[in-house]
Parts: sequence; C-alpha cells; structure tokens
Amino acid sequence: MLIAQISDFHVRAHGEEGTFGIDNNANLRAAIAMLNDLDPVPDVVIGTGDLTNRGRSEEYIALRDLLAPLAIPIFLIPGNHDASPSLRAAFGEHDYLAGEDEFVSYVVDRFPLRLIGLDSTLPDAHNGAICARRLAWLKSRLEEAPERPTLLFMHHPPFKTGIWWMDGIGIVEGVSALRDLLDAHPQVQRIACGHLHRPIQANLGRTPISVCPSTSYQVCLDTRPESHPQFIAEPPALQLHTWTGEILVSHTAYVDFPAEPIDLRPLMKNWDDRYERIHKGLPIPKVVRY
Ligand SMILES: [Fe+2]
Repeated sequence: MLIAQISDFHVRAHGEEGTFGIDNNANLRAAIAMLNDLDPVPDVVIGTGDLTNRGRSEEYIALRDLLAPLAIPIFLIPGNHDASPSLRAAFGEHDYLAGEDEFVSYVVDRFPLRLIGLDSTLPDAHNGAICARRLAWLKSRLEEAPERPTLLFMHHPPFKTGIWWMDGIGIVEGVSALRDLLDAHPQVQRIACGHLHRPIQANLGRTPISVCPSTSYQVCLDTRPESHPQFIAEPPALQLHTWTGEILVSHTAYVDFPAEPIDLRPLMKNWDDRYERIHKGLPIPKVVRY
C-alpha cells in the first residue's frame, strides 16, 4: 500500500498573490500533477492541514479547483490556518469530514493500513491541542481494532523541534496523555504530521513521528536560541509512505525540482544478476568495492 502525504499548501483565493515571492497555488498544482504521474500510483493521499492560508471560503473554492485533477482519493484534515466550517462547506461530498462534533476526526478503514485522521487544532489559536474529548474518541477508535496496523495523522506534531518560534505554536494540551494512549496501542505504526514545513523525525514514547515538508515554503533550519522566525525557499516537497505489511518506509520527494537522474550502470558489472536476485528474493552476493 502506497500513501502519499501532502501538507501545508496555504492555498490563496484565485487571483490573489502568494507571499514571500512563492506561488502557493502553482506549487500545489505541480504537486498534484506529480502525484498523478507517479508510478506506482499511490492508493490514497492524505493532506495534513493548512490547506488554505486563512480559512476563507474563497480559498476553499480555489483548493477545490486545484485538487479537482487529482486522480487518487484524498483525505483532508485541518491545520491552524484552516476553518473547519468553510472546509466542510466546500467539500460537502467528502462525507468523512462531517464528524461528530466541531472537530474533523475520522477513520478510513478500507485499506491494509487503517488511517485515523485526528483534528489537532485549537479554536482561534495557531497552537494545537488534543483535548480530553478527542483523546476519548481516539481511545475508542484504537480499542475497536487493536489488531489493525494503523497510521495516525494530524496537523500539529507532538514534540518540540528546537526551532523555538515553531515550538511556540506547538501543542499545548494532551501530549503526555496521547503518549500514554499510543504506548498502550502498538498497532499505531506512525504519527504523520505537517505544520513544521520541514522533513523531521522524532518519536512520542514508542511511536515514531514523521513530519512532511510543505508544498509551499519551508521553515528555515536554525535551532540557535538567538535565531529569529524565518522561511526559506527550499524546494516544495511531499512524502511517500509504503506500508509493506510489516513496516512503514517513507521517502521525501521534491516537487518540480529540476534534476536529471545520473546513470550508475557503468560503475559496476552484474546489475542484471542482482536485479534477478532482488526481485526473486534470492540471497544477494556481496558487492565488491571497486
Ligand atoms: Fe503551515
């Protein structure tokens, strides 16, 4: 099973300029084109929040238009730049968005890896929260399928990065309770997040966490205490998570990045023999250094 993750599109209304000299909408369009051209084709796409820049209805209209060419099912969760009522209004046919309350949390049960989208937003704040109600909901979802390998995805990552100004808009409630809950449910293979606009790995207790870069602008890697808030025009990117049935293997892929592959076949003999062995699951002889 192949899961594509895109995050933090910060879509603008049609005709509105991007910020920092970056055209967020054009970058999302390129990411969608890349996903449609992937071989193998992903089974599903998850969009991990900050779908729009300010949560305005006209931005969700632009988001709908930008996602329309996507030929793969997509599941969306809100981030701190979104507004769930406007998201729900614009994507009425996305039944899973309806939820049981104001939070957009849901389960997708039709794939080998069970997907749980958890709303980590805190109303009217850029920070996140996993309140008691959402923890109870998540606990029930995990208890109903303890044998099903599961990917939990949410916008805010439950750890501190060392980039102080992003940590300042991190989760302010529920992290230790979430850790305890997930430690008791080892079927959760990973927490996949957005929000940080950088590829970062960490863990919460025994559960690995991965953070997907943004399809728009990235956060500058500067962990010095005297640093200041900065974005940087590193390439837009997405992530591809392969569930093998045993482990989740993740790759970061750059969108619209002008790099041609370099052919390494002349460097070493016997590629054909190795190809056969790898694809037939046969033992592989050592590769002698040249
Ligand atoms: Fe964002």
